Amino acid sequence: MSVASATTAEKLVDRFGRVVDYVRISVTDRCDFRCVYCMEPDTKFVPRPQVLSLEELALISRAFVELGVHKIRLTGGEPLVRRNVVKLMEDIAGLPGLRELVITTNGSQLQRLAGDLKSAGVKRLNVSLDSLDPERFRQITRGGKLEQVLAGIDTARAVGFERIKINSVILKHRNHEEVVPLVRYAAERGLDISFIEEMPLGVIDDHDRAETYYSSDEIRRDLAPHFTLLPTAETTGGPSRYFRLVEHGTRVGFISPHSHNFCDNCNRVRLTVEGRLLLCLGQEHSVDLRCVVREHPGDIERVKQAIRDSMAIKPKGHEFTLTEQPVIFRHMNATGG
Ligand code: GTP
Ligand code: 5AD
Ligand code: SF4
Repeated sequence: MSVASATTAEKLVDRFGRVVDYVRISVTDRCDFRCVYCMEPDTKFVPRPQVLSLEELALISRAFVELGVHKIRLTGGEPLVRRNVVKLMEDIAGLPGLRELVITTNGSQLQRLAGDLKSAGVKRLNVSLDSLDPERFRQITRGGKLEQVLAGIDTARAVGFERIKINSVILKHRNHEEVVPLVRYAAERGLDISFIEEMPLGVIDDHDRAETYYSSDEIRRDLAPHFTLLPTAETTGGPSRYFRLVEHGTRVGFISPHSHNFCDNCNRVRLTVEGRLLLCLGQEHSVDLRCVVREHPGDIERVKQAIRDSMAIKPKGHEFTLTEQPVIFRHMNATGG
């Protein structure tokens, strides 16, 4: 970086004074699983011409980093089912000014790809895992194979990422009685774990989200007889509130959009695979970056200007409710989990 650009380092700041330094980029809305809280069994995916190319994704990533973004997370759908995604990771990881390239994955491809991800410069992995029971895992993911994901996590551990975090969406009477075994699984392997309250994204037929709601406080109550959780101020720049297990040092996080709103500290925006820059996970405010990159291919200044302008419409926060039909019709896979 030149001295001039270092001293004039730009930041993205919204109307509420929040600095945006974290971007979550969905590289595909496709997935080899169909998790019951995320999509419907017959979900239609975005037609290929509407999907951003890897070059377009790399250009937009560079624009964000030049605007002061330090952390990029690739998500999906399942990011590792996108062909040549490792090349994109190499391009992003090498951007001057980026501190962290991280990935959220369902783990199904990790046996094959964990080594390539590490070589490409990915620092940390978040792996979704909602159950340690093969049959229940198959039901929640609608067909996923638990042993494949567990073997993938073991491969990733052997490869030596800085940290691996398990993400578990907890649903009452589906997997809530697994919170203790899940923490034990993480602790025994030196992994972190975050429990997530389900968010009302898209209409789903599988369950009534109000009935399956299981709060972070209930999970903490369930863990209390088995582990000593000490609150910590640690943050990874994500929405988890973290505790440390005295017994193991593992971090246990809670992502609680319903019970502990974290919008005041929001530092992120997300890009859908169609190039829609979503200013909030739980609102529709967005800017079409695909139209900018397609009308003016390679013109990074125009992309940067569109991103700067988008700060004016970043909403204060989400308005999730579990008792009414969702107001956001896109499912998580199309949003970039
Ligand atoms: P770390 O960098 O490890 O802290 O990750 P993270 O928690 O930021 O990312 P991860 O992909 O693990 O996110 C876990 C879940 O947190 C997501 O799948 C969402 O369910 C939720 N989440 C992330 N960002 C937001 C947000 O801006 N709003 C809401 N409501 N939920 C979010
Ligand atoms: N609410 C909360 N988390 C969800 N995820 C997918 N759909 C939802 C939802 N409706 C999570 C997955 C994964 C991440 C990509 O998003 O479990 O951890
Ligand atoms: Fe796929 Fe992740 Fe959605 Fe499950 S939560 S269907 S693994 S994108």
